[in-house]
Amino acid sequence: MAATKLLLTDLALTVNHVPSNYVRPVSDRPNLSDVQISEGSIPLIDLQHLNGPNHSDIIEQIGQACQHDGFFQVKNHGIPEAIISNIMRIATEFFRLPESERLKNYSDDPSKTTRLSTSFNVKTEKVSNWRDFLRIHCFPLEDYVHEWPSNPPSFREDVAEYCSSVRGLVLRLLGAISESLGLKSDYIEKVLGKQAQHMALNYYPPCPQPELTYGLPGHTDPNLITILLQDDVPGLQVLRNGKWVAVNPIPNTFIVNIGDQMQVISNDRHKSVLHRAVVNSSKERISIPTFYCPSPDAVIGPAKELINDDQLAVYRDFTYGEYYEKFWNRGLASECCLDMFKAV
Ligand code: OGA
Ligand code: NI
Repeated sequence: MAATKLLLTDLALTVNHVPSNYVRPVSDRPNLSDVQISEGSIPLIDLQHLNGPNHSDIIEQIGQACQHDGFFQVKNHGIPEAIISNIMRIATEFFRLPESERLKNYSDDPSKTTRLSTSFNVKTEKVSNWRDFLRIHCFPLEDYVHEWPSNPPSFREDVAEYCSSVRGLVLRLLGAISESLGLKSDYIEKVLGKQAQHMALNYYPPCPQPELTYGLPGHTDPNLITILLQDDVPGLQVLRNGKWVAVNPIPNTFIVNIGDQMQVISNDRHKSVLHRAVVNSSKERISIPTFYCPSPDAVIGPAKELINDDQLAVYRDFTYGEYYEKFWNRGLASECCLDMFKAV
């Protein structure tokens, strides 16, 4: 039977089978027994001395990770543990609110700047994903804070604090990544125009048959760079050498991944890598990605400094607004949206 509720969180508590609209075709299932569970699957980079004597060594590590893995974790990132535990607590409390309270924020329109929804894009997709999510815009804060949920009562304050600290970390990373490409350290920040920061609180309920469905199927992130905080329940997997590798949680670290726009700016030197979220039968899982983005009217294209007679521009110039619209309307698919923006 197909599920009929708008949201998944409460429905998931009442089913002992995955409803038919969540069941993937046999050729498109997670194949959980075939996943590699290696410790240290993606690099862990210590940012403690990014501004000290080891600067060039850390830039080198970041550059290598962006080129070869598209993913890395960071520790000693400067964001206090209290801010991290607060945002996790608020996210948990939010998804524990009565459904009627949560539904006040519901929308299936991806262009809304604050909205609670489910799956990925219920308007365009054929099979649903085992996820509810609250998605908010958060930069500049003062433009959006008033539309955020006001329940739990400290939501706005705690989330605002988290957003500004993560933004600080993003800007440091953008400087480092610019340098890793041999560009001036403010190059990428300048390309972004006014800049935008979005955030999701992802809630993946326990799932009676995790081998039949996804929390999120394989995709690359359409934005510039993503900073993911996950709780202590595994679920994130990254594609590496054709194999899915589990990224097991390490407390107080963030996972950083290169998005499509960074791959374009770097003219394919840095890689936007396929990743997915799987679910499990016993534990709920919360993840909190921050998506850092160009402003919609920013023109994105390969950095001129990285183009020459040997390395032609792989992509044409486009506005981020154009890219973003294509992303939401085509559904999450393993072929990357980037292919539609190749230079001819
Ligand atoms: C995403 C994403 C992974 C996760 O929201 O784009 O890849 O572990 N999330 O929730
Ligand atoms: Ni993602």
